[in-house]
Amino acid sequence: MTAKKPFYITTPIYYPSAKLHIGHAYCTTIADAIARFHRLAGDEVFFLTGSDEHGQKIQQKAEEAGIKPIEYTDKIVAGFQNLWKKLDISNDDFIRTTEKRHEKVVQEIFRRIYEKGDIYKGSYKGLYCTPCESYWTEHQLDENGCCPDCGRPVQEVAEEAYFFKMSNYQDKILSYIEEHPDFIQPVSRRNEMINFIKQGLEDLCISRTSFDWGIPVPIDEKHVIYVWFDALTNYLTPIGFLDDQEKFQKFWPANLHLVGKEIVRFHTIIWPCILMALDLPLPKKVYGHGWLIVDGDKMSKSKGNVVDPIGLIDEFGADAIRYFLLREINLGQDGNFSRDALIQRINSDLANDLGNLLHRTLNMVGKFQDGVLLAPQGESEIDKSLKADAAETVAFFAENMDKMELSLSIKKVWAFISRANKYIDETAPWALAKDETKKQELANVMYNLAESLRHISVLISPFMPVTAERIWQQLNLPGKFADVQLDDIKAWGGIAGGHKVGTPEQLFPRIEVEKDEAPAKEKPAKQPKENKEKKAKEQPAENGEISIDDFAKVQLRVVKVLAAEPVPKTEKLLKLKVDLGDEQREIVSGIAKHYDPADLIGKNVVMVINLKPAKIRGIVSHGMVLAASQGDDLKVLSVDMPVGSVVR
Ligand code: MSP
Repeated sequence: MTAKKPFYITTPIYYPSAKLHIGHAYCTTIADAIARFHRLAGDEVFFLTGSDEHGQKIQQKAEEAGIKPIEYTDKIVAGFQNLWKKLDISNDDFIRTTEKRHEKVVQEIFRRIYEKGDIYKGSYKGLYCTPCESYWTEHQLDENGCCPDCGRPVQEVAEEAYFFKMSNYQDKILSYIEEHPDFIQPVSRRNEMINFIKQGLEDLCISRTSFDWGIPVPIDEKHVIYVWFDALTNYLTPIGFLDDQEKFQKFWPANLHLVGKEIVRFHTIIWPCILMALDLPLPKKVYGHGWLIVDGDKMSKSKGNVVDPIGLIDEFGADAIRYFLLREINLGQDGNFSRDALIQRINSDLANDLGNLLHRTLNMVGKFQDGVLLAPQGESEIDKSLKADAAETVAFFAENMDKMELSLSIKKVWAFISRANKYIDETAPWALAKDETKKQELANVMYNLAESLRHISVLISPFMPVTAERIWQQLNLPGKFADVQLDDIKAWGGIAGGHKVGTPEQLFPRIEVEKDEAPAKEKPAKQPKENKEKKAKEQPAENGEISIDDFAKVQLRVVKVLAAEPVPKTEKLLKLKVDLGDEQREIVSGIAKHYDPADLIGKNVVMVINLKPAKIRGIVSHGMVLAASQGDDLKVLSVDMPVGSVVR
């Protein structure tokens, strides 16, 4: 057996100065999906997150609250840990910069670099931004003379301080970045950093004397270490830098530091200089992801648009939030969070596409084969194409997840989910079940659907670990889900013939949209600029033409009306119960003026089955019956075809 490849991934360590918001959760969720993917691919993963607890700001906050800084941070950090647990973050360690193990490492690093001659004592006159805990030079300030990161005023400070000779490493770091195109990603950030270094690196102030909430400088106790020198070294501590050489050799250099775009500079300039001074190799990759904005605006307390992730998780569940963040936003760009868009994704992708596929499949296996999957024999052209799509999806997923193309990868899985739903429509199992001579064909279809779901369960597991396992359990597959590997879906046919599946349980309840109208277009969420441009390209042509792909999104089916009754206190609406062949649904239809309910019962009519559910007069309608109208005349489209037939 070949040794597992180590994969060391980190998130930034978070400041406990404020409550974590959905933007912080975004960063950690990305890292978690990547870590889970690498475990699935068979790597030995070490995934680190933590808290960055020192600095003047924390000390001030604690003083304001009348408590010790550590009491202040203990409480907030417990909140972080609770959030990561609720979001199913699978970190292997959580480092606090207030821990002894970390203090030891920071002091040792200071000592080593000091002894080498790259740290010296001087006097610092500088422009300091307290909220960002950053010093700036005059030419780095923004056009208002304020902090270029947060836009707030800076203060001039002068004090005795220790300096790190970054200037010694300027040329070395520049050539390193130029020679290693993968080191800083995306490429736009790489270019920014190259330009920044070319303006000249100044020596970095790494100690302060004006406050004492920090790690003491080991050779001069009246100084505490400046926060970034303290914070960045966190990445070395838990992988055994001082106490476990074997572990350290295994995991260092880190494969990936995932950080927000505003802290790329610290990770790709200051951190590499520290590592070079220690003669340690540099991390393989620093990826600067974009920011999450809310309804088109940057989150801020003053705008009152800060989204609390705990509230969202309690309302919608962790997997739905994770899915939304990872699917909706392209990693390198800013992306928009909106509640409307989240609900839309839950209803259409999770409840409808994925939930229905599982539910329909298990329902049919139960109804047609007493819950038992029979070994497949032979294959039709449709079966072949489904299997080829599955193999292509797995290969695409493995390749693109490795390249951190998270959104592309999960979209591909969803294309396969749609493909599997379409396979049901194409093979019409309810019709096969009525024909004694088609028993094996039916068995093949049932098997292929369950096998598709086995693939889907594995593929979505880095994104939605809980849902993935629920699908696995409902399929009643053997073994511990935690042991499942990507290799398990490298080939089709992993389910044994004679396997009994479980009973279906709803994966995601549809979220009722509070509207009093018939299904109408959702108000589109405000998009960031770059998305708006992309969306414009996706609009139908001005003459109203749509492509065949647009049309293919509408799923039409012949359904039988089982029951019909007027909706109380309305003149126009009827509530219908319809049979789709593999499930029954309730819909509301505006045809009351044209039909006596009794006349509709037993009719086979055409229905749009993948319309987003809408609440109409308190009833959730799960689809729409088609009708033709002229003037006052209206007739539902009824056809002489069996229930479940696909209309195309
Ligand atoms: N403590 C430093 C990091 C030190 S790492 C050695 C820090 N902390 S932070 O709490 O302010 O930010 C942590 C991470 O959260 C950063 O990567 C930052 O980009 C990210 N985010 C904060 N707000 C965000 C959004 N609105 N959207 C996406 N990420 C955001 O910086």
